[in-house]
Amino acid sequence: MKKLFILGLLGLASVALADAPAVFKKCIACHGPDAQKIAPGSKGDKTIAGMPKDYLLTQLKGYKAKTADNGGAKAIMYGQMANVSDEDIEALADYVSKLPKKQ
Ligand code: HEC
Repeated sequence: MKKLFILGLLGLASVALADAPAVFKKCIACHGPDAQKIAPGSKGDKTIAGMPKDYLLTQLKGYKAKTADNGGAKAIMYGQMANVSDEDIEALADYVSKLPKKQ
């Protein structure tokens, strides 16, 4: 039973990784390969993995519009999102929301 559960988790993890949108590659340096790292320059101890998709969409669109502000080095995110298409933002929000939250 326990073995099956672990196999199930591994399966989920590999599916999630296989689905990573190409644009996610550039997030890894700061947010970590599984979005479980605290981005240097961010305020507090939040990691983005598993945040609700709607919230992520609002944040990413907000950074693109240069209006989002989470109290840290927001200009870094303005630069990151400047040339990301709405389609890619949707893919990013979907992918990151499905990553397991940091324990
Ligand atoms: C060079 C470092 C860097 C890169 C690369 C980067 N980020 Fe960020 N990210 C930050 C920082 C710094 C903040 C905090 C900004 C603030 O306080 O508003 C942040 C904040 C965020 C937030 C808001 C988190 C919250 O607390 O609500 C999201 C979502 C996010 N980043 C997603 C991404 C995605 C998706 C990518 C890739 C397209 C990416 N980031 C690339 C540094 C980076």
